[in-house]
Amino acid sequence: MDDRATELIHTRPCWKYRHSLAVRIAHWTNAVCVFGLILSGFQIFSDVRGEGSLPGWATFIHTIGMGRSEHFLFAWVFVANGIGFTLYAISSRHLWDLLPFLKTSGRYNLLQRLAYTGVIFGLGPLVAITGAALSPRIDALIPILNLLGGRQAAKTLHLAACFGLIGYIMAHLTMVATTGFWNNLRSMLTGWYSADGLPHQLDKGHKGVLRMGVLLRAWRAGRRWIYGVHNPQ
Ligand code: HEM
Repeated sequence: MDDRATELIHTRPCWKYRHSLAVRIAHWTNAVCVFGLILSGFQIFSDVRGEGSLPGWATFIHTIGMGRSEHFLFAWVFVANGIGFTLYAISSRHLWDLLPFLKTSGRYNLLQRLAYTGVIFGLGPLVAITGAALSPRIDALIPILNLLGGRQAAKTLHLAACFGLIGYIMAHLTMVATTGFWNNLRSMLTGWYSADGLPHQLDKGHKGVLRMGVLLRAWRAGRRWIYGVHNPQ
């Protein structure tokens, strides 16, 4: 083998197809819905408790009426997407990659599988069921409130599940950032993953975390810009 061929083998990443189109669409639809649900949920909470009781960055910046409409819109898409993803994961046997304590393809480590299963079968359904119980119209059709122990208990569980999701997101993003941020992100966007990590060694470790910092700053700058457009001085 000549030098050029050897160099190519050692510097070109070995691409693996890691995420199917269905998983990628479901993942990003879910991510948008969860962020939308959290921001619109805090918007409702902030307005019910008295305007401005939460900082602007934690909410959508508009009225409680819009906050409610957005919350319900994101909630329905979140539920439909969750059911669709679960059916797909069962029928394609992708679920077996996600469940802990099974012989799997080895795509995810035990910690990831525990987190993914916990969010898909634990926090996700809990936030959806307690949310549905808090909707008088849905509760009139299926009386869930009584089973949960009343409105106050349902609200507490709903908020606890919400904070559970926020905790999950922080852990999830930290793991994505510290195990090769761009490689992970690219695989969830295009499906393709560089299996040997080349030439993406720089993604590893603290550099990934620094890049998360850049994304956070972009998010805050975006919010400041939107806030300026909606509230011209
Ligand atoms: C902007 C926010 C997010 C980013 C950048 C992100 C990024 C990623 C990436 C890169 C992966 C692939 C990891 C790998 O291949 O090892 C992944 C997988 C996953 N993420 Fe996220 N994620 C985000 C938000 C969320 C949220 C909000 C949830 C759920 C509440 C979530 C649930 C999952 C699950 C369940 C998987 C495994 C998917 C599968 O293979 O079926 N993610 N995420």
